[in-house]
Amino acid sequence: MPRILVLHGPNLNLLGRREPEIYGVVTLEEINHRLQRIAAEHHVEIEILHSNHEGSLIEAIHGAMGRIAALIINAGAYTHTSVALRDAIAAVDIPTIEVHLSNLARREGFRQHSYLTEVAVGQIMGFGADSYVLGLQAAILYLSHHGA
Ligand code: DQA
Repeated sequence: MPRILVLHGPNLNLLGRREPEIYGVVTLEEINHRLQRIAAEHHVEIEILHSNHEGSLIEAIHGAMGRIAALIINAGAYTHTSVALRDAIAAVDIPTIEVHLSNLARREGFRQHSYLTEVAVGQIMGFGADSYVLGLQAAILYLSHHGA
């Protein structure tokens, strides 16, 4: 079974309570349950990690090398700051889908640039918790077309 790694970056552990008018009321735990359910239906395995630390996210990406068929990442604010995360994704050469709950194009100027987009297969944003569901579906479709 292909394995997919889902990475949640800083502050996403507060989903449900954090600025609900922007990020919605669904908790990270609920999102993870939904992803596990969808993965089981599609016969893929998923690993899920949340970290508020840039280095831990980078180490998780390194640890995915040779083991993980696709990566789904919401890097939170590191999206807009982290060349190191961008380089980690480029280094491991694992097809990566960038996910955001909010539509960054409609938000503050400093959120308009993502360091990850150019190393990702694609980006999904603006659908709240469903962005993760769409991200997982995109990863599964991608793997079915390109081989796991
Ligand atoms: C976010 C958008 C980022 O700008 C922000 O820093 C986040 C969440 C999103 O999912 O919409 O933490 O990645």
